[in-house]
This record gives sequence, C-alpha cells and structure tokens, in this order.
Amino acid sequence: MLIIRTVQKMQAYSKEMRRKGKRTGFVPTMGALHEGHLSLIRRARKDNDLVVVSIFVNPCQFGPREDFKKYPRNFKHDASLCKNERVDCIFYPAVQEMYPGNYKTFISVEGLSDALCGKSRPGHFRGVATVVAKLFNIIQPDNAYFGQKDAQQSVIIKKMAADLNMPVSIKVIPTVRDKDGLALSSRNRYLSVREKQDAKVLSQALKLARLLVDGGQRSAQRVAERMKQLIQKKKSLKIEYISLVDADNLVPLTRISGSCIIALAAKVGKTRLIDNLIIRGVS
Ligand code: PAJ
Repeated sequence: MLIIRTVQKMQAYSKEMRRKGKRTGFVPTMGALHEGHLSLIRRARKDNDLVVVSIFVNPCQFGPREDFKKYPRNFKHDASLCKNERVDCIFYPAVQEMYPGNYKTFISVEGLSDALCGKSRPGHFRGVATVVAKLFNIIQPDNAYFGQKDAQQSVIIKKMAADLNMPVSIKVIPTVRDKDGLALSSRNRYLSVREKQDAKVLSQALKLARLLVDGGQRSAQRVAERMKQLIQKKKSLKIEYISLVDADNLVPLTRISGSCIIALAAKVGKTRLIDNLIIRGVS
C-alpha cells in the first residue's frame, strides 16, 4: 500500500494509473476510520481496479468554535485498517500542501448548503465542496464513495459534480449502525457510556417516523412532532432540528411524497450528532 503525501506525487500516480487503464475508486475521509468508512472502502474495492483513500482533516469545513483541534487523529491505526481492506494508496497530505499560504478559491453549492446542518454550521459545506473538488482534481477517480449518514453532504457533492461537469460517478452507501442502532461516527468516541445510551433514541425516532409513514401518515409536521416527543424524553439531548425534506433539493416538505429525507441533528452533552432516513416512492 502506497502512502502519498504531496499533490504532485499523487497527481503523477493518478495519471500513470489512468494511462494503464485502471478504473479508480476514491473514498475521501477525515480518518478515525470505523466500520462506516470501511463499508465505503469495501464497495470501492468491489467496483474498481484501484482504491485510493484520502485521510485529511480539512480545516476549512470546521467553524471557529468546532472541534478541528481535538478531532481524533490516528494515522497508524487508520493505515493498518486500510491495508486490511487491500487499499492501494492512501493520500495523506499536510494542511499546507492542500492550502498553501495564498489560497483563494472556494466552491459554494448555493441553496443546498444553507438547509439543515448549513443553518448552524455556516461555511461548513463550502469547505466540504472545496476540499472534495480539490481531491477529485488530484486523484481523478472514476467513482467516488460517500455515506448516506451525511445525507446533505452527498446531495451537495452530487450537485457540484453535475454542475461542474466533473467526470466522476458519485455513489452513496447506506449508513452503518452499531447493534443499538446508533449511526457510527468518528465523533461517537467523545460520548460517555451514559450519553451513548441516550443517543440511541435518535435512531429510534427515525424508526418511529418510518412506522408512521408506513401507516399512512403524510403530514411532515405530525411526524416531526412525534419524533420530537420521543427524543425529548432523554434530558441529555438537545434537538437542533428535525426536518423532512425532498431528497433531491432538500426543500422542506409539508406533505410527505416522492423521495423524502427525514433528517435530524442533536447535541448529546457537548457532542453534535446527525442521523437520517431516506424514504423513497411515497405516494
Ligand atoms: P468523514 O466524517 O471521515 O466521513 C467520510 C465518509 O464516510 C463520508 O462520506 C461519510 O458519509 C461516511 N460515513 C461516516 N459515517 C458513516 C456510517 N456510519 N455509515 C456509512 N458511511 C459513513 O465526511 C467527511 O469525512 C468529510 O466531510 C469529507 C467528505 C472527507 C471532506 O472533508
């Protein structure tokens, strides 16, 4: 497994692989890898000749009061997990390599970036879109893999790739959960045992939403209200939002129909968690 730390070397390697006719699958990550990331890597391994994983904690997607400094970093462990999954190459650049002193260019996917998490994390998706566009230019993948866990991120990256005619196919992979239903996240390691126990209610609320929709409920407000009542039973949780939105354009729904994302964000103690459920073909 190759570990490449400079843009120049990564671009040379990508070019060489393309010349050889290798189909490249790319999994962008911020490290602290868990089974969620590994499910993306496994899918990439299955679909492609070559698998490239990037590990880069991207400063420009963190707000000034967010956890950039304390975000978990453990390259050695991540590299050994990648090796087990037969990853061909890890791109592991330093911040200076990606954002040299006079860096000026940012990508903003308008409208989509202001919904849901964008409200409380201004600038976050501008940072995400920018780094992902840069990584696509550096790695030139045929396929790139993202998790449904970050539903808004996936919608934004798909839109960016389409609008900017990027020659890459975006694949969205289902959320991996622990045995209690909690969506895996690198930030789960901030949770105490008690907080983790309480956080289970988030996926339970999404299950409840599915039951209600399956049972014929079509009012977005009623579904959100029932979810809220359930989550509020746990005093350590503070709901940031519960939203039912159109799965393609993230516009809030009043009546549930078509493809709908039921998304939520909540703080458990100091840790911000997100989760969502996608329901397709509601008539
Ligand atoms: P990170 O949080 O490390 O996640 C990397 C990828 O793993 C994302 O596509 C995310 O949706 C996916 N993922 C995380 N938890 C998952 C789970 N439980 N099940 C399935 N997939 C999961 O998302 C980012 O990094 C960054 O914003 C990035 C795209 C790398 C840009 O910096």
